Amino acid sequence: MQLTTLKKLIFDKNIFAFLRLGKQVDTVYRTSFVTAANSSGLLNSLNQGEQSLIQLQQQLTIDDTKRDALEAWLECGVRLGELGFRSGRYRLKGKLSRHLAKQENQIAAAMFEEAIRYHYDALLSAPVRMKQDKAYQLSDQDGKVIAQSSQILEPFVEEAIEWSLKHTQPKAILEVGCGAGKYLVYLRDRLASSEITAIDYQADVVAQANQTLLQNNIKDIDLRHQSFFDMQGESLYDLITLHNNIYYFTEEQRQTVLTQAHKLLKPGGQLLMTTSCQGGSSAITALNLWFSLSDVGGALPEVEQLKQSLGQSGFAHVNSKRLMPGESYFAFLAQK
Ligand SMILES: C[S@@+](CC[C@H](N)C(=O)[O-])C[C@H]1O[C@@H](n2cnc3c(N)ncnc32)[C@H](O)[C@@H]1O
Repeated sequence: MQLTTLKKLIFDKNIFAFLRLGKQVDTVYRTSFVTAANSSGLLNSLNQGEQSLIQLQQQLTIDDTKRDALEAWLECGVRLGELGFRSGRYRLKGKLSRHLAKQENQIAAAMFEEAIRYHYDALLSAPVRMKQDKAYQLSDQDGKVIAQSSQILEPFVEEAIEWSLKHTQPKAILEVGCGAGKYLVYLRDRLASSEITAIDYQADVVAQANQTLLQNNIKDIDLRHQSFFDMQGESLYDLITLHNNIYYFTEEQRQTVLTQAHKLLKPGGQLLMTTSCQGGSSAITALNLWFSLSDVGGALPEVEQLKQSLGQSGFAHVNSKRLMPGESYFAFLAQK
């Protein structure tokens, strides 16, 4: 490089400002590459052993016309130090990709993918989305990734269920928004003779829950494809549970949901909710952003506001409990 070029770079273009960002830019490249490498199956393939370009092309089911693009993508991985390349074969090399490729780290890998694919996108596109009134839809997220990442919550939700069972043995239980049905299995194991009804308003999710029940040989849960707003009757249940779904309802709908739950409960019955709330880590704050930008529901609830809404819906005793130390993940238990 000539001295005049260097002078121009330093004095006219302030090249040092860019050089200071180098590490941060590499982090963005690395996390993007590894996320796609994980979700596409590349990490899994290379976890089995070294592979050639053609083998990877076949395993990732990529068309011949895109072989050059695949090579360019893999070259990014090599350049970032996440992949190794020797004698025409690729292998896992970087710490991050080797970590996420391990079978026992699949929940962490899904949490990582959720952060990079959805939270990062929300942070990046928030101003444009707000200006263009372009809301996220439920279909913008891969349900499998979300289901896998939320497995980290299972021990906390189970602790909350135990909290609700401390003083009562509910005879009739309603689970609202049961998702893949994992807490139905826990409830059935725990309460062999209770009548359990479960609803979810997404047909494919109900099908998944059905699978879960079949796999666990559970045949006595009344599983329905139904919206909570369409539930009829009153004083039917001793316990109603809503796990990780109050923010799937808009802020306007939430009061109706709580009033409906109150109506469906028998006198003395309990409503148990588990949910992320505002004021948590950067992950929960970004989750709050995603929901605030979406048509799916609304912002995460605030603890005191949710307790107040429970009171306004007629619940007499309202308690909350932080389930995750240092994180804004709470259980709410309210009695009719
Ligand atoms: C994040 S998932 C949580 C699933 C499950 N409870 C869990 O914790 O793994 C939220 C669920 O609430 C369901 N849901 C949202 N609105 C609903 C409604 N009005 N009636 C019934 N289910 C609803 C969604 O279909 C989705 O399966």
